Amino acid sequence: MAISESKKTNPLANLLKPLLKRDKSGPQLELLEAMAAGKEVGDKEWQKSGKEHNWLHFTRHSPFNKGDMNIIVRGEGHYLYDSKGNKLIDGLSGLFTCNAGHARPELAQAAQKQMMELDFMPLWSYNHPRAIELAEKLLSIGPEGMNRIFFTTGGTEGVESAWKIAKQYFKMTGKPQKHKVISRMTAYHGTSHGALSITGIPAFKQMFEPLVPSAFRVPNTNYYRAPHEFANEDEFGIWAANRLEEAILFEGPDTVAAFFVEPIQNAGGCFTATKAYFKRIREICTKYDVVLVADETITGYGRTGEWFGSIRYDIQPDMMITAKAITSGAQPLGALFLKEKFFEPFKEGTSVLAHGYTFGGHPVACAVALANLEIFERENLIEHARNNSPIFRKTLERLYDLPIVGDVRGDGYFFAVEIVKDKKTKETLSRAESEKLLRGFLNNALLEAGIYCRADDRGDPVIQLAPPLTCGPKEFDEIEAILRKVLTEAWKRLNG
Ligand SMILES: Cc1ncc(COP(=O)(O)O)c(C=O)c1O
Repeated sequence: MAISESKKTNPLANLLKPLLKRDKSGPQLELLEAMAAGKEVGDKEWQKSGKEHNWLHFTRHSPFNKGDMNIIVRGEGHYLYDSKGNKLIDGLSGLFTCNAGHARPELAQAAQKQMMELDFMPLWSYNHPRAIELAEKLLSIGPEGMNRIFFTTGGTEGVESAWKIAKQYFKMTGKPQKHKVISRMTAYHGTSHGALSITGIPAFKQMFEPLVPSAFRVPNTNYYRAPHEFANEDEFGIWAANRLEEAILFEGPDTVAAFFVEPIQNAGGCFTATKAYFKRIREICTKYDVVLVADETITGYGRTGEWFGSIRYDIQPDMMITAKAITSGAQPLGALFLKEKFFEPFKEGTSVLAHGYTFGGHPVACAVALANLEIFERENLIEHARNNSPIFRKTLERLYDLPIVGDVRGDGYFFAVEIVKDKKTKETLSRAESEKLLRGFLNNALLEAGIYCRADDRGDPVIQLAPPLTCGPKEFDEIEAILRKVLTEAWKRLNG
């Protein structure tokens, strides 16, 4: 067909062909019909179609029976734009992903170049240059002692892979009973059956029981709600770490394969820990030959003010799960870092790790990751986050003058503001109050006031903040002003 001819035809008209053949009792595909007819579509059409045909993740759909969905149409720098024309500051970097900000041309160029060179090749028996280059790049910025990268497409797959590799490693090295995992209460580690078993949030698990057996929980490092008085956070950390030893001894060291820990636990609201905690955890894991797995799905790639939380807090993990910000969210990719000892049994003979993902280490994702890490280095994003983190903390701590703000905690560019009913007693919201305030008010009010972030009650209610690492004091002030306005109103509603 000549180019002039093809220009004249509406390419979307082809969409009509299957539509015309459709049985009228089938789904109503009005958006497609409108597009095929060359009509302009926008918020109204997306709302209708989205409500009828999309199933959102971790989302209660009943509010859409009356109200609208939030549809984000564009991202640029620190800002998002919705389908109604509102501009929102991105207080959560997408989902802890867009650390270099939105719509970086370098990433789009890297993707395009890679697509034209090698659009796809799996890492099944074959390799490709971008996976090879990226593995070396990652090892150059990762914690000491790592030598191998297993690529995935995200955090859940990293968690799943780490557990499976630990199990097979022990089977192949004469400790076949070592298969159990321990993780921390309220921690989120993903959604597949294995990763969900490691997740410590009962409400997320109930509907999918029975899960993978052999996963156990120990206390996390929620210092704000420590079970009793401690002289300081180090002492509390040692207490919490010792619960791991207790659990390993109780289950039997010969049966425990791995302990999963986030450098800063997200679910529950940014539970940090001092180096004393991680030192003790390391000692315990070494003593009982338990694989120490740092889940850096969120904390990786600058979030803590270092390349990885494992470096910042000297965790010295045996495996490290990363994902999300490896590409600043522009492509789905995950990278599991491993010490070489896990690979040793696979070096000779017929042994193989019968595990993998079609899209794990996708060439386009790897190319984008390389370009992303280049941005980090060129713009000194890690240093920028490290230097500006104390300012971010101080800015958020201004909110302590509000009666509803019980605790501000976190590190790097990763903070949580805990909401309480009574500052002195630390009394938290009841289920009903949390429901009314978080879902009934806060989430929408925050959006309306101009911020995209998350009010979360997987533990006690918190507002979570993790803006792009490109943000600075100006954006911190903007975030604080919005939170101040919304939390002032929330307090009135709580007591109204
Ligand atoms: C610590 C942690 N692990 C695992 C996951 C699961 O990652 P994904 O959603 O990429 O599968 C998440 C997601 O937020 C996470 O925060």
